[in-house]
Amino acid sequence: MSAETAADLPEPLADVPAERWPRHIAIIMDGNGRWAERQGLARVAGHDRGGHVVRAITRECARLAPIEHLTLYCLSSENWKRPAEELAFLMQLLEAYLVNERPIMMEDNVRVRMIGRREGIPDRVLDELDKTVSMSAGNDGLQLNLAINYGGRGELVDSARSLAYQVMAGQIDPADIDEQAIGKHLYTEGRPDPDLLIRTAGEMRISNFLLWQISYAEIWVTDRAWPEFDEATLHEAILDYAGRERRFGGLNR
Ligand code: IPE
Ligand code: IPE
Ligand code: MG
Repeated sequence: MSAETAADLPEPLADVPAERWPRHIAIIMDGNGRWAERQGLARVAGHDRGGHVVRAITRECARLAPIEHLTLYCLSSENWKRPAEELAFLMQLLEAYLVNERPIMMEDNVRVRMIGRREGIPDRVLDELDKTVSMSAGNDGLQLNLAINYGGRGELVDSARSLAYQVMAGQIDPADIDEQAIGKHLYTEGRPDPDLLIRTAGEMRISNFLLWQISYAEIWVTDRAWPEFDEATLHEAILDYAGRERRFGGLNR
């Protein structure tokens, strides 16, 4: 890490060598609704505040050189069960976020990609998403994956289906289907697995997020709701990660 980056980090984190930092952080951004209700506000006020936190945390990850990938769970394939008004608000928020953040993402050299199924997402949102993805395609700083209408099981279904088509076309032999082949057919193709999975708002569950990719991720859960998450909380998670011993089934690191 550059001395400049290290200089404005809190003391224990500044001392963590780059190789003990997570390269890929994935976040289940939960608790917007509960946070808003605690403030006596409507649930959507929590989503609104959560959008600001997305900006702050993306900027911080872009600034911290050892972090190369950030994957944010924005909308699950199960979230369509929510009331129509809340979903409409979330779609508007997503559209506005994409429009407003583009210049900042360009300034921060962030490359944006989407993971999830496009079906069901309004065209207006998809248009802004596509614009953001193509505009930022040449950026080689932080890789930001936005999980929108994402479900881990659905992703595995899509991967199985796409492999089956290749088998039918004679492009691949079923005997050659291995973990790498499945990985290549996931939405996250070509990207490393998350090292650190953060969940806010205290729930000890995965909620269908990156089922394949998190097989050896280190999990860090905070009781803080997403609207209360900030740079200091991120630093706390990274510091905790840096002290973990990852064994990957073996006996040492
Ligand atoms: C996370 O906050 C945002 C989305 C799932 C879109 P929630 O809306 O799930 O907030 P809680 O969990 O109800 O507090
Ligand atoms: C997970 O949160 C999905 C996102 C953060 C986008 P949920 O609020 O949907 O998860 P559950 O329903 O509590 O498991
Ligand atoms: Mg929730």
